[in-house]
Amino acid sequence: MPTVVLGVTGCIGAYKACEVLRELQKRDVDVHVVMTDHATRFVSAMTFEALSHHPVFVDQFALGENGDIRHVSLADAADLLLVAPATANVLARFARGIADDALTTLHLASRAPLLVAPAMNVNMFEHPAVAENLAILRARGVGVVEPGAGYLACGWLGKGRLAEVADIVGAAMAALQRQRDLAGWKVVVSAGPTIEDLDPVRFISNRSSGKMGYRVAEAARDRGAEVTLVSGPTALPDPARLRTVRVRSAAEMEQTVLREAAAADVVVMAAAVADWRPARRADHKVKKDVAERTLELERTTDILAALGRDKGARFLVGFAAETDDVVAYARGKLVKKNADLIVANDVSGAGVGFDADDNAATLVDRAGEQVVTRTSKRALAERIWDRVRELRAARG
Ligand code: PMT
Repeated sequence: MPTVVLGVTGCIGAYKACEVLRELQKRDVDVHVVMTDHATRFVSAMTFEALSHHPVFVDQFALGENGDIRHVSLADAADLLLVAPATANVLARFARGIADDALTTLHLASRAPLLVAPAMNVNMFEHPAVAENLAILRARGVGVVEPGAGYLACGWLGKGRLAEVADIVGAAMAALQRQRDLAGWKVVVSAGPTIEDLDPVRFISNRSSGKMGYRVAEAARDRGAEVTLVSGPTALPDPARLRTVRVRSAAEMEQTVLREAAAADVVVMAAAVADWRPARRADHKVKKDVAERTLELERTTDILAALGRDKGARFLVGFAAETDDVVAYARGKLVKKNADLIVANDVSGAGVGFDADDNAATLVDRAGEQVVTRTSKRALAERIWDRVRELRAARG
């Protein structure tokens, strides 16, 4: 039986959390409730205690609450942390890592996926601070059940009403089902740019930040896969609970990916690998004493194509960063590189693609196409894994 820790925060929508709890129980979910102090002014802890058949956690400093260090034991037991309703205040504290009550402390102690259902006045919801905090959470892979639009409890008309109970419960059940559905898979993900040195101080590279590949690797890890991330030079820290191998050049990436791919079930090439490198690297800094200099370049190995030529049972995912005819070029790459799925990125728009937290893509495979409109890179990563699972299952 999965365990959901239901966080309830101080908002008129708190009464709907009782229904959320009951609907989850009907689906064989064990629900424990954590309330903020403000939430207890809307619905009493006694109500949730009676409905959940468990003590309700409100005050982490109350005597008797810490026999088993409650915020840690509950965080550890959770398969999902669902916060409904989530106020602007709790979103800010989650985004900034503040731990000043039972719920926010448990949030930091938990490795379970987090799903929030925001509810507040429309002006609050549209405030840049709230939008920024939600963007931070989304980039971290947090699921958001969008609030509805209509008459709000404050009498205003607009977006901010807690989502329908059915939508919250549906999103929670989907998050629970996703968990560990990649268990037993060995996955290799490449990410970031490569750097091709001209001399000890100059190089050729590109604008990849590594965010897309890192999110793909983290999503696979969170769904139970054993993940090796082969990363070009990025400013991102090594993700927890997966193996990161750092490389610099296309040649190093080629060597490492081919070695790691030998034992992998799935390889995802999200890296922006250089297509050309300088034919020669100078050992000393090249002097600028000539007016013009011609750079001689040679092709690097196409790693994805090399994997495609010796594919075996492996499932190959490539990316295609394009500025025009995105899907047509992606389909060409699918065939030419013998890949199973190409994530076609239109990198010409603002706010998506290189270095952005969001992305938009079309998933192109031999059976068809799926359009993923602008969303967080983590959410796109989940969609990629959903599709890989379907295609591998269809293949048997
Ligand atoms: O890192 P971010 O800032 O988050 O940005 C994400 C991204 C835009 C870099 C990423 O989503 C993306 O599109 N990566 C692929 C970029 C790219 O190199 O596309 P391409 O069309 O040149 O290559 C097609 C595929 O072949 C890619 O899977 C690439 O990894 C692979 N390739 C390319 C060249 C090469 N020598 N070897 C390869 O394996």
